[in-house]
Amino acid sequence: MLQIFNPIVSEKILQKISSVRRLSLRRYKQGLSYNGKIPAGAYGVYFKKGSIGIKVVHGSFGALRVGGSKSLETLQRSKVWNDAIREYNILKRIELSGFTPIPYVVKPVQIGKIYFPAIFMEHIKGVPLSKFGRRDLTFQERVRLEGLISRYQKKLLTKYGVINYDAYGSNIIIEHKGNQILSLKIIDFSPEQVYIERR
Ligand SMILES: Nc1ncnc2c1ncn2[C@@H]1O[C@H](COP(=O)(O)OP(=O)(O)O)[C@@H](O)[C@H]1O
Ligand SMILES: [Mg+2]
Repeated sequence: MLQIFNPIVSEKILQKISSVRRLSLRRYKQGLSYNGKIPAGAYGVYFKKGSIGIKVVHGSFGALRVGGSKSLETLQRSKVWNDAIREYNILKRIELSGFTPIPYVVKPVQIGKIYFPAIFMEHIKGVPLSKFGRRDLTFQERVRLEGLISRYQKKLLTKYGVINYDAYGSNIIIEHKGNQILSLKIIDFSPEQVYIERR
């Protein structure tokens, strides 16, 4: 079976994941993330099952959907499959940071008749910075927010040898209480936007 899984992930989560084989074609066509409100990125469409997030990697831009394969054999040799594995490996490398999603499994899912690689991972609850940024933050809170993002970026580089060049907007999820920021997480380590130091 074409699949890689993270050995630190619990049996319960793995069982849940094993039951997911197909996802909605309609939602995929709309190119929307799980709640139908946040547009998916250029590279993935996001679905959600309970506390598990599912990033289906199509690896294309805009309406030009080039990813996916008609068979598991061709999927295995495709660029999108390799990209998904690379993204999983980056997430795996930084999983102990505490401010990025824990990766669970990469396996094929079927949308309509086409197979795509799906990265199953921890779903991060919160509001993307792109939406949150419009709220009225005090000057001090803005300073704290920028400070947190740069502290996390610095830690990614110095401790893990990773730079995410795309860590803003919809790729930062903010947990908040009103206008007060409680914590934030950096998501989206699509390999094309990430530098990885060889170690
Ligand atoms: N682990 C996650 N937790 C919560 N939301 C997520 C997660 N991963 C992706 N998303 C949502 O799906 C959107 C698209 O995923 P993303 O990884 O940014 O793909 P892309 O590489 O196409 O930008 C994100 O902007 C975010 O709204
Ligand atoms: Mg993104």
